[in-house]
Amino acid sequence: MTRSILTPFLVRGVRMYNRITGRLPDRANWPIVWGNTSRFAADRWQKRDKAFERCDYSYSDAMEFLNAARPGAVRDIREGSIPEPALKVVTRHMGDLAADRPLKGLHIGNFVGVSLACITDAARKLHADSVVLSIDPNIPHRGIDSPQDLVTGLMARYGLLGNWMPVTGFTLDRSALYGVLNDKSSPTRHASYHGFSATQVLRNLARLGTKFDFVLIDGNHSEGYLRREVASLMGLVRPGGYLFFDDVDENWGGVMAVFAGLDPLTFAKVAHEGRIGVVRRRRGVNEDAPGGPGRRGGKGGGKRPGGPGRGKGPGAGRRRQNAGGA
Ligand SMILES: C[S@@+](CC[C@H](N)C(=O)[O-])C[C@H]1O[C@@H](n2cnc3c(N)ncnc32)[C@H](O)[C@@H]1O
Repeated sequence: MTRSILTPFLVRGVRMYNRITGRLPDRANWPIVWGNTSRFAADRWQKRDKAFERCDYSYSDAMEFLNAARPGAVRDIREGSIPEPALKVVTRHMGDLAADRPLKGLHIGNFVGVSLACITDAARKLHADSVVLSIDPNIPHRGIDSPQDLVTGLMARYGLLGNWMPVTGFTLDRSALYGVLNDKSSPTRHASYHGFSATQVLRNLARLGTKFDFVLIDGNHSEGYLRREVASLMGLVRPGGYLFFDDVDENWGGVMAVFAGLDPLTFAKVAHEGRIGVVRRRRGVNEDAPGGPGRRGGKGGGKRPGGPGRGKGPGAGRRRQNAGGA
C-alpha cells in the first residue's frame, strides 16, 4: 500500500533530478523513470533496440545479459538453471533428430529461460521453422518475481520470438508451492505471483492433438508429480522422440526414481550423462496409449519423494530452492 502511494512521487523525483543534472537514464532505470514520457520516446526505443540487438545464443552471453537485467541475482540464476555442460548433452542428442522438417519441442520449467533459449536455438539451427512450446506458471523463483519477463528478454536477444510459444501454466494441477513468497520476493499485485496460473496444460495440449519431437523436463521435481507428467507425455511425444530429464542425480531422489522406473518397453534408455537422463520413445510400442508407463523399479527408489537429499554438491543450492518443485 505504502509502496504504491510512494512510487509515483519517487519516479517524478528521479525524473526531475535527471532533468536538472542532465543525466540520461541508464539501462537499469530508464524503463521505470522515463517509460512513458514523450520526450524520451525515441531514445527509449533506440536504447531498447540496442540492448536487444540479435546475437547467437551462448551460455556466457545469456549469463551476462541476465546479470545486466538483474544485477545481484546472477548466483541464483546460475544455481537455478541447467549448467552449460548438461545443456550440451541435450543439444548433442537433439542433433540426431531429422532436420528435413521443422521440429516441435516441449520445454517444461523455464525459470529465467537459460535452457529454453538454448534448446530453441538448437532446434532453429536444425530447421529454421522449428517451434518450442514452453510451460511454466511464472511463479517467483529464487527471489525473481516474474521470471517470464527475463525469459522474454532472453528469447528476444537471440531472435527466437518467432520460434517460441509460451504457455503460462502448470503442466498438471497447481503444485504445492513452497517458498513462493520467500524472503527475497517482494509482495506483488500479480495473481500469478500468488501461485495462480493455467492448469492441466499437458492434458489440453493432447486435446489439441499436438505431438512433439523432444521434451525437456525440468519443472516440478516431486516424484509423484513427475511420474504423472511422464504419463501425460505419452500422448504428446511422437515415437522416436526424445525425453530429456534434468536433475537425474543423487540430489533428487524422486527424479532418479522416475528415470530408473521408466518402462523399458516404451522408452529406450539412451544416456545418463551427469545430471541429464536421455530416453527415446520406442516406435511401434504403446503408440496410442493415452496413459503412461506404470511404476517400475520398486517403491520410491529415492531418498524422499520429491525431496532433496542431504549430500553436498553442485546442485545443493538449487535443491533447497526447488523444494516442492517450484
Ligand atoms: C529449476 S527451474 C527451471 C530451470 C530451467 N530449466 C533452466 O535451466 O533455465 C524450475 C522451474 O519449474 C517451474 N515449475 C514448477 N512446477 C511446474 C509445473 N507444474 N509445470 C511447469 N513448470 C513448473 C518453476 O516455475 C521454475 O521456473
